[in-house]
Amino acid sequence: MLPLLAIETSCDETAAAVIGPGHQLLSNVVKSQIDEHLLFGGVVPELASRCHLEAIGPVVDEALRVAGCSLDDLASVAATRGPGLVGCLLVGLSYAQGLALAQGLPMLGVNHLEGHLLAPFVGREDPPFPFLGLVVSGGHTELLLARDVGDYEILGATRDDAAGEAFDKSARLLGLSYPGGIAVDRLAKDGDRAALSLPRGMMHKGGYDFSFSGLKTSVWQHTQRNGIPTGQALHDFCASLQEAIVEVLVRKAQRAAKELGLSRIVVSGGVSANSRLRAVFQEMSSQEGWDLYLADLPLCTDNAGMIGYAASLRMVRGERSPMDLDVRPGLALADASNRVRSSSS
Ligand code: KG4
Ligand code: ZN
Repeated sequence: MLPLLAIETSCDETAAAVIGPGHQLLSNVVKSQIDEHLLFGGVVPELASRCHLEAIGPVVDEALRVAGCSLDDLASVAATRGPGLVGCLLVGLSYAQGLALAQGLPMLGVNHLEGHLLAPFVGREDPPFPFLGLVVSGGHTELLLARDVGDYEILGATRDDAAGEAFDKSARLLGLSYPGGIAVDRLAKDGDRAALSLPRGMMHKGGYDFSFSGLKTSVWQHTQRNGIPTGQALHDFCASLQEAIVEVLVRKAQRAAKELGLSRIVVSGGVSANSRLRAVFQEMSSQEGWDLYLADLPLCTDNAGMIGYAASLRMVRGERSPMDLDVRPGLALADASNRVRSSSS
């Protein structure tokens, strides 16, 4: 079933990757649309679909070229099925289905969140189940117990904004460019984390659920009252904002690890690229004796390498998708828990 070509187009990155016979990453090409959406301060779905249509062919060709393969060398094809923007998902999944049909190859639709969850293991060891997983991206914040590939128990999730959304929406209120998480991370480096006391929603209650909408409101109130901070005050604001998000994530994970008796912790998704989040999880790991698994930075944000890796683990277990598989914009990580040979739902 390997080499496998994987395609990811769920949001604003057109990506393709090739996974080699030993589940290793042979190529991982990402074409970002950040410049196209910059003007609008966020992703414009229609524009994103059109950009995917233009980019998909060249991106796939480049992934094959870097991997040193041709279409005839491929043994299978995979693409993200959901969650994501419907028009965007359709471009990648249809392309993969067309390719699979033309080449007579098996195809698998992949849950984007499972891709994120397993990203720290791409090109490394097999995932060390069971482990505690924290997936933090632009659209999702989920704490889960991972027992095996496709066996995920969701312990908690955000009740409103995702952690990445909290970064992006707050950054927008601060007049920073999209995607806000990266801008906040950069500015926070020279800031005082204790300068402002911002809300830590549900840090000590709500089980393992999260809430970040109060933080966004608080940022809005600050900017309404005092205007958008500039100079050192902006650095301090970003550092304090970042600390409020990071602290909640780390504390909840710490409590779940204790209560479930888990010491292998996986943190993934776009927000896991955050330098402060990585540093605090690393500190916590030496303090608590955890084995911490973080993906390399290019594998934290959206890419097809993680989709191909998740697909390769499932393909070798005999899973296939029917050729008429449809996209699922609202697919949840728990939906990845159906271990079926042929997922027709
Ligand atoms: O996983 P991802 O690439 O896309 C989704 O599946 O949503 O995550 C994108 C999110 C955005 O909200 C972006 O602001 C955030 O990840 N992000 C960061 C950093 N890099 C990306 N947030 C904080 N610090 C970063 N360094
Ligand atoms: Zn993502």
